[in-house]
Amino acid sequence: MVSKPFKPISSQDAVVCRNVSKVWAEGTKRAHVALRDVDLDVTPGEFIVLLGPSGCGKSTLLYLIAGLERESGGEVWSFGDRVAGPSPERSLIFQETSLFPWLTVGQNASFGLSIRGESVGARRTAAREVLARVGLTEAIDKRPDELSGGMRQRVAVARALAMRPKVLLMDEPFAALDVQTRAKMQDFLLDVWRDSGASVLFVTHHIDEAVALADRVVVFTSRPGRIKTIVPVDIPRPRDPFSPEAELLRRQLTELMRDEVDRAFAEQEALAATA
Ligand SMILES: Nc1ncnc2c1ncn2[C@@H]1O[C@H](COP(=O)(O)OP(=O)(O)OP(=O)(O)O)[C@@H](O)[C@H]1O
Ligand SMILES: [Mg+2]
Repeated sequence: MVSKPFKPISSQDAVVCRNVSKVWAEGTKRAHVALRDVDLDVTPGEFIVLLGPSGCGKSTLLYLIAGLERESGGEVWSFGDRVAGPSPERSLIFQETSLFPWLTVGQNASFGLSIRGESVGARRTAAREVLARVGLTEAIDKRPDELSGGMRQRVAVARALAMRPKVLLMDEPFAALDVQTRAKMQDFLLDVWRDSGASVLFVTHHIDEAVALADRVVVFTSRPGRIKTIVPVDIPRPRDPFSPEAELLRRQLTELMRDEVDRAFAEQEALAATA
């Protein structure tokens, strides 16, 4: 087999995926391929959006990069090291809010630091700093159930930022929010991202979200997920969602997605027919 001409992996690469595949339940009757031959290079400070139909392996890829799961084939690297497990340098924000209801907002925000064994004083200072960055200074002593959905997701972002990650992995973090709140959260995220210098890998189903956020949009095929194409986005920020460039990109991404969603539906119907 002829190997692909990749550039050497360097400590300057925020994330590198080389020929990455993932088979869930490998070696059993229930084995199935979730990802195949994924090659992706992410530079420091880059904003990548992962777009693809349900079940194509977007979350799986984030888990591999986070080090929560091991790849079945290929390699995942981050800043010159092979990813072998979780690291505070790579923070994952899940789709569902995952705050601890019995802790205050401040304790939630600094939770990672308590695992690291930092003092109460240091945790309180860090919590204050990150909550200020997400505009929630006043909420530090509240409990999560006293906050709105958007505020809770901001605390989740604050908790991830408290670890000062170099790579922020976000799995549909705003999916449960209404359209207006989601738009506000996108603006807020862009501000935080600019200040942090972190690379972001952001999963979404929403084409509008990709248009609003991405430096590059990685479009996946339906299962098993492969990269169908990578679309660079050259629209200056702040972006007007109604500009002709945004409209053109939306159309391009819609067409790329349409085929894949049709394929994914056909596959599910075929499976249902044989069940
Ligand atoms: N822990 C697991 N064990 C077995 N199979 C899994 C596991 N997690 C995911 N899968 C399967 O792997 C495939 C990819 O799942 P994944 O959650 O990565 O998709 P996704 O692109 O994030 O989908 P969605 O957009 O619906 O969140 C799916 O077929 C799913 O059923
Ligand atoms: Mg998912």
